[in-house]
Amino acid sequence: MSILVTGGAGYIGSHTVLSLLEQGYEVVVLDNHSNSSFESLRRVKILTGCDITYYEGDVSNRLLLQNIFSENDIKQVIHFAGLKSVSESVQSPLKYYDNNVMASIVLIQEMIAHNVCELIFSSSATVYGIPESVPLNEDSKIGGTTNPYGTSKLMVEQILRDTAKAYPQLDITILRYFNPAGAHPSGLIGEDPSGVPCNLVPYISQVAVGKLPKLLVYGNDYPTHDGTGVRDYIHVMDLAEGHIAALKHKMAESNCRTYNLGTGKGYSVLDLISAFERQSGKIIPYQFVERRIGDVAECWANPSLSQQALNWTASRSLDDMMRDSWNWQQKNPTGYE
Ligand code: NAD
Ligand code: UD1
Repeated sequence: MSILVTGGAGYIGSHTVLSLLEQGYEVVVLDNHSNSSFESLRRVKILTGCDITYYEGDVSNRLLLQNIFSENDIKQVIHFAGLKSVSESVQSPLKYYDNNVMASIVLIQEMIAHNVCELIFSSSATVYGIPESVPLNEDSKIGGTTNPYGTSKLMVEQILRDTAKAYPQLDITILRYFNPAGAHPSGLIGEDPSGVPCNLVPYISQVAVGKLPKLLVYGNDYPTHDGTGVRDYIHVMDLAEGHIAALKHKMAESNCRTYNLGTGKGYSVLDLISAFERQSGKIIPYQFVERRIGDVAECWANPSLSQQALNWTASRSLDDMMRDSWNWQQKNPTGYE
């Protein structure tokens, strides 16, 4: 019996594939490499000594999905595949709705056709839009997303809730990730953004390694402890383990459940800079600039539902995340190239 991991060559996917293999799962990966290379999986094989069945292609390719479901004994699917750039989604909304929403529909249709019932979907804290209050619970208001990327996640969540009602045999887990950071402690796999990173931790890492001159801190006048934006950063290995927990713990009361994957702790941009400096021994030059459009002051999770229902807790600290990000960046200054 195998698990199909779509987007398994990507940042969170590759770390989760590693955890799955370490736990004895058999893994089939489908990835079109729109934002990754096979190298991540080659390294996962080195780290685990395990084989990965691999298909290069697109989730929206119905014939390919039919082949995958026919050729392998797949019982569960973890659906990571998706595009994730907020700014690109504003410029090319149809690309995002096509890739993130349409492809998910094809996947669910083919799962139903092949009697594959268990799905874990990668959602995001972005579905909460502008939070009315923090911490965010799973039943906090969702919607009011400010970009097509966020809306695509909201749409797929709704599609999954509706489909779960119509097909009681389905068993769906929606995981809302907060801010993934860090890398596997080996430094062999990590986050490899293309071009100039948009997200904070890869940006700081590239400043530390000398690829970028300084960090621009978007706003120092937020109503937070030091004026800079506060987020719930979660180690990518904790996130990976959250998926294993979700695979193992099935709750009977509903066939579509939603969990926050976060730590419940909020850290500011300046907190991150300090932690990174502590772990790397490098000084991170930075400059305060205007707030970034669409940013919120603070966003962090109430993780108690996932802790209780999945028997899972994020155990790694902010310093662990910064140490592992730096280790990965130092060992792979040009990513997987
Ligand atoms: P990533 O870009 O590193 O990984 C996504 C993978 O999916 C890539 O390997 C890409 O090549 C592949 N892919 C994209 N579209 C595909 C398609 N149509 N068919 C086949 N493969 C396809 O991103 P990530 O950070 O690992 O994120 C994984 C998932 O988690 C995404 O759905 C993302 O939206 C979601 N998410 C990420 C974050 C984050 O900060 N990284 C936060 C919340 C949610
Ligand atoms: C962003 C996306 C969100 C997406 C998430 C993961 C926006 C508005 N939100 O979340 O939809 O799900 O990434 O991909 O883009 N910061 C700086 N300088 C930088 C980069 C970031 O000061 O160069 C600050 C931001 O203002 C924020 C914090 O660092 O306060 C974290 O930013 P980022 O890593 O981009 O994550 P989010 O904005 O939380």
